[in-house]
This record gives sequence, C-alpha cells and structure tokens, in this order.
Amino acid sequence: MDSSTEELRHAHDVLAEWYAERLAGALESMPVDRAVLNLFGELTLAAGVGSEVADVGCGTGLLEPYLASRGLAPHGVDLSPGMIEVARRDHPAFRFEVADLRDLPFPDASQAGVVCWYSLIFLAPLDRAPAFAELARVIRPGGYLVTAFKDGDGRHRRSGRSAGLGVEFDSYWLPAREMADLAVRGGFEVVFQGGRPPQGPESCPQGYLLLRASGLYPL
Ligand SMILES: C[S@@+](CC[C@H](N)C(=O)[O-])C[C@H]1O[C@@H](n2cnc3c(N)ncnc32)[C@H](O)[C@@H]1O
Repeated sequence: MDSSTEELRHAHDVLAEWYAERLAGALESMPVDRAVLNLFGELTLAAGVGSEVADVGCGTGLLEPYLASRGLAPHGVDLSPGMIEVARRDHPAFRFEVADLRDLPFPDASQAGVVCWYSLIFLAPLDRAPAFAELARVIRPGGYLVTAFKDGDGRHRRSGRSAGLGVEFDSYWLPAREMADLAVRGGFEVVFQGGRPPQGPESCPQGYLLLRASGLYPL
C-alpha cells in the first residue's frame, strides 16, 4: 500500500467514531442527496439487472438503511478497518468488508449497481478513470453507478470538519464536467448530472453523477 493510501486509511480509522456520531441522521437534512439516491434506486430496479448494490467507500454504513428502504440490497466496502468495525456494530443487518475501490472483492458483472458517496474524492484526477473502469467491471451491463463528489478545483490538504483529531489527508476537488469525462473514459455513459450549492459547513458545491455501465471496458 502506498503512503498516501496508508495515511488515508489511518485517518479514517481515527475518524470512524466521530463520523458515526456526527453524521447519524444527516440524510434527513439532505433532500438533494436523497433525491439522487432515489433516482439511482428507481433506475437500478427498472433496469431488471437485480437489486444487489455495492456501497463503495461506505464509511460507517450511513447509507445502508436508506438504500434498503429503496428496495436495494447493499453490501458495503471501505478501505478503513475502523470504519468497517463501526458499520458492522451500528448496522448488523448488512454485510460489510474491508477493500480498496481500486481492487474490489466482487466478480465481474456481479452487481446491479454501485454507490460511491464521497469516496472517489480522495483519488487524484489521473487515478479516477482506472478507478471508474474497476467499478464498471463489477456492474452488470445496463446497471448504474451513482457518485457524489466535491465540485471544484485542486488538491486540498486538510482535516476537514474533523480538525482537532490529529489526522490529515488529501482530497481532490474536480469540476463536474471533468469528472463526467473521466467516468466516460472508464466505461460509463452519463445519464444524469447535477449539483447543489454548499450547505451548512460545506466549503464548496457538491456534484452528482448517475452513470450507466455500457458493458464495454475501454481502458
Ligand atoms: C467521506 S467518507 C463517506 C462515507 C459514506 N460513503 C457516507 O456517505 O457516509 C469517505 C469514505 O471513503 C473511504 N475511502 C477512501 N478511499 C477509499 C478507497 N480507495 N477504497 C475504499 N474506500 C475508500 C474512506 O475510508 C471513508 O470511509
């Protein structure tokens, strides 16, 4: 594991309890996030490719009950063992495991869809097209990927809202059009693209992409 991945994993191990407490119930005050996830759920089920979805970069499992309420069967994976431990404790009805999104523990075309909620933002832009290709690999042709990300510019060396916990890590903001281009290079077609202004303590606009897996892996 390279040093920046090691740093990211350690930081999220430290953040896991803080994250679970701070963000419990956060979706209730995020109607845009819910609407995008609802659209993903509806399109996934309508595609007729199943209901199993991988929640990649699942953190403490915040999204699992909501995805299940939309008729989906989520399986969470995360780089951080600390996050996975908290997710298993707080959401025992769901499956969780430790894995890197660049090397997923799922066979080819085994998932109806994939959710990447603020987990691709830690990859430098150059690393995102291959990551999209790995995500496309596990989705059945015609299935969907939904992702939320920071719509902006540049590398941000920060501890985010967790200042004071003694951890730092890099995240990369990217204009929505560039994010969409990388997804297309990774094997997806763009079905829906959206965004919203920052809310509460957020410091930049948030971007959303809903992508369909073409079944072709161009990389
Ligand atoms: C901002 S949190 C979001 C968690 C969750 N998706 C949510 O919305 O509550 C980002 C998560 O992505 C995970 N992550 C970062 N890089 C990853 C990678 N390469 N593979 C898997 N998970 C990763 C982190 O460990 C962290 O738990």
